[in-house]
Amino acid sequence: MLDVGPLDAFYGDSHIVQNVSITIGDGEGVAILGRNGVGKSTLFKSIMNGGPRVDGPIRLRGEDITGLPSFARARRGLGFVPEDRRIYPHLTVAENIAMGGHAARADRPPYTLEDIFGFFPLLRDLQTRRGFELSGGQQQLLAIARAIYGRPDCLLLDEPTEGLAPVIVEDLARQINAFRAANGTACLIAEQNVRFARTCTERLYLIDSGVIVFSGTWAEFDAQADLQQRYLAV
Ligand SMILES: Nc1ncnc2c1ncn2[C@@H]1O[C@H](COP(=O)(O)OP(=O)(O)O)[C@@H](O)[C@H]1O
Ligand SMILES: [Mg+2]
Repeated sequence: MLDVGPLDAFYGDSHIVQNVSITIGDGEGVAILGRNGVGKSTLFKSIMNGGPRVDGPIRLRGEDITGLPSFARARRGLGFVPEDRRIYPHLTVAENIAMGGHAARADRPPYTLEDIFGFFPLLRDLQTRRGFELSGGQQQLLAIARAIYGRPDCLLLDEPTEGLAPVIVEDLARQINAFRAANGTACLIAEQNVRFARTCTERLYLIDSGVIVFSGTWAEFDAQADLQQRYLAV
């Protein structure tokens, strides 16, 4: 459904993402794992055309979206949650979610607020709170809800668990999985939290210094004991 690359991405003269190819099937959950600074966010921003200079093709449902601006990619079905979440601090939860309507696909309506509250009941209770009044976990859930509102085919989550307590991370995984199970939304997740990534995806790519060093299922990843040590160990 989403076919990326082979892709190169640059900041100035720095060649950050190098010859990276990834594919995501309909409804599939795929993780991008790698330490800090290996290029995960640069890859996501490249897929959204949100910063780096990008060289290489990106196809969404067979359509070449190379050259389209970010908002047009969103409207074609990519729901992006950046790592800094970008909640509007002075808007309420309901208003923040509604902002996601700007990314709705032209050929089908966004979800309703009621749909979103059905997926994430916690947000119903918080709907009149302002962004700045939320905890980190609540903000992450809200950012995901806003990205979902436009009914994307593929959600791109950039390190959703960053800075969240373990119990909140578990809850977030449950909510993401319940939503995807009900709606069949594909999901690409950049993570350093292996446990969370494993809970939410079927297979993974491992990145080091901008290059894919492993691609496979979680069982294949586990069969190579050195991978975690070499590329992810704390
Ligand atoms: N806006 C930017 N300008 C220049 N270099 C950047 C910028 N953003 C990230 N980088 C550099 O690109 C590399 C990859 O960063 P990033 O994609 O954020 O990694 P990750 O998300 O895996 O932690 C790092 O060396 C980082 O310093
Ligand atoms: Mg990052």
